[in-house]
Amino acid sequence: MRAKDIRGKAGAQPLTMLTAYDAPTAELVDAAGVDMVLVGDSVGNLRLGYESTLPVTVEEMASHTAAVARATDDALVIADMPFLSYGADDGDAVEHCGRMLKEADADAVKLESGPHTVELTDRLTDLGIPVQAHLGLTPQRENETGLFRQGTDADSARRTIDLAERHENAGAFSVVLEHVPANLGETVTDAVDIPTIGIGAGPHCDGQVLVVDEVVGLAEDTAPFSRSFGDVRGEMADAIEGYVGAVERGEFPADEHRHYEDELDDIYQ
Ligand code: KIV
Repeated sequence: MRAKDIRGKAGAQPLTMLTAYDAPTAELVDAAGVDMVLVGDSVGNLRLGYESTLPVTVEEMASHTAAVARATDDALVIADMPFLSYGADDGDAVEHCGRMLKEADADAVKLESGPHTVELTDRLTDLGIPVQAHLGLTPQRENETGLFRQGTDADSARRTIDLAERHENAGAFSVVLEHVPANLGETVTDAVDIPTIGIGAGPHCDGQVLVVDEVVGLAEDTAPFSRSFGDVRGEMADAIEGYVGAVERGEFPADEHRHYEDELDDIYQ
């Protein structure tokens, strides 16, 4: 899958996008026929033990993106650019985004977007780096805005629509809308020709994205707009407790898990 294929899919069958941070998860996500795999900077709080996404580095994103890309055959692999790897200096931003394609084998990058990413999106797409924009709640700005719903008043809704149009004109191939009212999700979807991918943005977007840990039930908490389709956390806890109990009771390793070499007996006498 290429970014240009996604660009043409607005209004068709709903697009699917899920995060993945490692090779085994990416393999399962890809096999399920998901259109886009996002190596989200949510890897920071979901897998690396950080309190938020802010400490995630370019190196960490490149490593996780490469693992996902190695295990993905069909879906578009999108590397989420971490906090301050773009937006301060365009030369650095081009280098960091370029690394995701050159070294980590991503197909595209995602930028948490605002007025400061319009020109950068233009520059990156000119250079051949496909860009997915991200509007609404942008968690990298949590110290400034908090982790709240966005686009809830007329001014901020108008800003979101305007930014979606400016990023489309700058060459973005799609736009993620996070935690905005469903009617704003619908208005943005009508206003742009590129696909809108919603997360907590209602049913009118051209596609949906969720965090895989929430979908499979591995995350401790689930966002109010998300849904668990499994209980991987419960299954992991059962398996791990099962192992600990079996070792403590002397049931593991059993006969079938051990082997002896008769000729070695002499060494131990
Ligand atoms: O990092 C992430 O997981 C994301 C999604 C929530 C869109 O940006």
